Amino acid sequence: MSDSPVSHHQAGSPSESPDADASNEQRAQMEQAYQQMQRKMRISKMDANIKHKIMVLSGKGGVGKSTVATGLALSLARRGKKVGLMDIDITGPNVPKMLGLEQADLNVEEGQIHPADGPSGLKVISMAFLLEDPDKPVIWRGPIKLGAIQQFIGDVAWGELDTLIIDFPPGTSDEPLTVSQSLPGIDGVVIVTTPQEVALLDSRKSINFAKTISIPVLGVVENMRGYTLRGTSTPNSKISVMGPGGVPIDCHSDEDGKWEITLDVFKSGGGEESSKEMGVPFLGSLPFDPGIVRGGDDGVHRIIAEPDGETARAFESIVESILEQLDKGSQRTLRII
Ligand SMILES: Nc1ncnc2c1ncn2[C@@H]1O[C@H](COP(=O)(O)OP(=O)(O)OP(=O)(O)O)[C@@H](O)[C@H]1O
Ligand SMILES: [Mg+2]
Repeated sequence: MSDSPVSHHQAGSPSESPDADASNEQRAQMEQAYQQMQRKMRISKMDANIKHKIMVLSGKGGVGKSTVATGLALSLARRGKKVGLMDIDITGPNVPKMLGLEQADLNVEEGQIHPADGPSGLKVISMAFLLEDPDKPVIWRGPIKLGAIQQFIGDVAWGELDTLIIDFPPGTSDEPLTVSQSLPGIDGVVIVTTPQEVALLDSRKSINFAKTISIPVLGVVENMRGYTLRGTSTPNSKISVMGPGGVPIDCHSDEDGKWEITLDVFKSGGGEESSKEMGVPFLGSLPFDPGIVRGGDDGVHRIIAEPDGETARAFESIVESILEQLDKGSQRTLRII
């Protein structure tokens, strides 16, 4: 690549070159050091060009981090913000699938990867784009994986962004730590949980993890809160639905005959309680919405398929809360001691 001084020297014969005596190994080391230096310079430029950087974490797998990360990114983009979405999950990157970008062609120019163009002007980069076969499991030993993440962070040409959202694999393992150490100026962490006890326990761990690495917790999102059934019946009549565990749930239809009942699939309100208990903001909840699963499989996110629907509105309200937290900025009392 022409951006390395070492490769220029390689053009001449070894005896004419100033570093003729350098062994191949030394050359390789120089090359590496040069690339690292360039990467560092790019990262500090990136820091200046990206106003806000938000990490999306959860202690437990499958609670909806990627769904929330893509939803937040899309919701912000639909407000006219310049948004980037970075999927750092090497072993199970699924953001491209959720956004219908599996076949995206990436441009590499001057040693930098240009992100794919997603819906609503969203810029997307995923480890999935770098994998040859999406069906092959990636088994990378720790240090190699973390090295790849560091390179990945420094090699993406985001340009100017209002917000960069970073989606992680589950758990408070090395990935968020590596990202927080490699990418300066992270504004905070959004923690995703479902209202179950196990998920909540794990979200408490994530809050503590964020405290340990001194990154502010912007707040908790409770996902899959309740599933709302809607129907019509005789006006002003009693409706009874068999809820989870066989417990009947009653409601009344209104004067037009419309009724709705929300079933708490995994209980409800736990995310709100645990955020209060841990002294971090509650950002809002998302309903259990089968359309999210369909959208994830079809590559059309729920927000795009139904921009005025309940889920899209819930995302808007969560985005409002996040923007409020970001506005509090430096006087944020949440910065952890
Ligand atoms: N609010 C919701 N309603 C219904 N299904 C949902 C909801 N949120 C997420 N899902 C579904 O749950 C599954 C897991 O979601 P997702 O992949 O976003 O979780 P994750 O936390 O990123 O998982 P992982 O830990 O594997 O990265 C997906 O099939 C997704 O469509
Ligand atoms: Mg995920």
